[in-house]
Amino acid sequence: MSMPSFADPSEPAIPLHLVAQSQLEDWLSEQPYPVSAWVSSLGFAGSLGQAVLVPDSNGTPKLALAGYGTEDTRARGRFHLASALSKLPKGAYAIASGLPEGDAEVEALGCLLAGYRFDRYRPQTPMAAELAAPNSSNAHVLHAIATGEALTRDLINTPASDMGPDNLEEAARDLAAIHSADLSVIAGDDLLAQNFPMIHTVGRAAHCAPRLLDMSWGDAGPKITLVGKGVCFDTGGLNLKPGASMGLMKKDMGGAASVLGLAHMIMATGVPIQLRVLIPAVENSVSGNAFRPGDILTSRKGLTAEINNTDAEGRLVLADALSYAQEAEPDLIVSMATLTGAARVAVGPDLAPYYCDDLQFVAALETAAQTQADPVWRMPFHTPYEAMIEPGIADLDNAPKGGFAGSITAALFLRRFVDTSTYAHFDIYGWQPSDAPARPKGGVGQATRALLQTLNGMAQT
Ligand code: BES
Ligand code: MN
Ligand code: ZN
Repeated sequence: MSMPSFADPSEPAIPLHLVAQSQLEDWLSEQPYPVSAWVSSLGFAGSLGQAVLVPDSNGTPKLALAGYGTEDTRARGRFHLASALSKLPKGAYAIASGLPEGDAEVEALGCLLAGYRFDRYRPQTPMAAELAAPNSSNAHVLHAIATGEALTRDLINTPASDMGPDNLEEAARDLAAIHSADLSVIAGDDLLAQNFPMIHTVGRAAHCAPRLLDMSWGDAGPKITLVGKGVCFDTGGLNLKPGASMGLMKKDMGGAASVLGLAHMIMATGVPIQLRVLIPAVENSVSGNAFRPGDILTSRKGLTAEINNTDAEGRLVLADALSYAQEAEPDLIVSMATLTGAARVAVGPDLAPYYCDDLQFVAALETAAQTQADPVWRMPFHTPYEAMIEPGIADLDNAPKGGFAGSITAALFLRRFVDTSTYAHFDIYGWQPSDAPARPKGGVGQATRALLQTLNGMAQT
């Protein structure tokens, strides 16, 4: 992994001015002629993402300009400083003017996130420019957030050949070791002995044994349990996915990757909570012992589920993990999962759709999503659709026919395994389909920064 840190504060930095389109004329008029002539000659118009370096008469960098666009163009995206910075040549830059004080932290974070490179299999060209941490910012916290996000991205980007359930366990073990957290693992046939039948059933056809990872950290404050879908590869099982749909399914542990990244942020910044992370880690594979369409499974909680599609495996492994989470009666359970294609169709890759009926949590999350530039969108636990997940011959149907409201019915399925008042569920995509500011193409965390701020708030009250 590589995620750069801020520039060494003891080294001199090139002053970086953000100039909005409407301010450019004024700004230029205050500059000596060589500066304004140079900037104009390069076609700098103050558009978002534009950046120019201005040398002095000796040819050494004197200042840099980053376009800050207009209110309209800024509203169309996020992390504008990062996109300008990534176009500047090697050097350390310090924000000198033009950025509202309240935006400095998140824009600086964007600059760190933009420097992420997935270089496990091939060296990658690092970002040339480095930002000096803004004076107003808490560089330590921003660094912890960026490192957590890099962990999430690395875990998602690593293909199933190197990120099976065993490797995911190893990643959780490494993380636990860094923060002196406890990790226990229940694997293989022990899952049956200890009553995790759904996790075992989904994962049993794979070469690498299914397992449940259980990490805990912190001994005071609210009890918060994060549950992440850790399907290390999703072939669809016997209801095999067509090639085009299977191509990206190394990312089906995106929920697990997100909760591990978030756990790093929580532990590295010392959020005073009692944290627990549960990850059912499996591969949904095909073999003679694979579970079949029509099978009826009994969950840990005792609820039965008719398998109408082996490709709706995420809700099955999560069901056992969620009921296990609930048994300890935490103050809040949050699940994160690349659970349905329907969520992606509904809101696309940029928004994290989530379900929660605790309006205090909802309000805090929405505020945090704004501050953290980590957009979320609330979806309904629409109770009238409960009938859709009731097949008649079992308590639950894992794949209602017709696919109406696919993300909602999956969320309703999960909710059957928890106490409804303390539950939030995120049906994330976990993948950035093309390069965007601070988010290079590939695995990406969603809602983790918004959740960090929300949990921080819960811990303070
Ligand atoms: N992992 C997939 C969901 C997914 C697909 C997320 C594509 C993001 C992109 C999940 O296990 C799945 O296959 N869900 C099925 C459920 C259906 C069979 C009820 C789906 O959404 O098609
Ligand atoms: Mn599936
Ligand atoms: Zn899946």
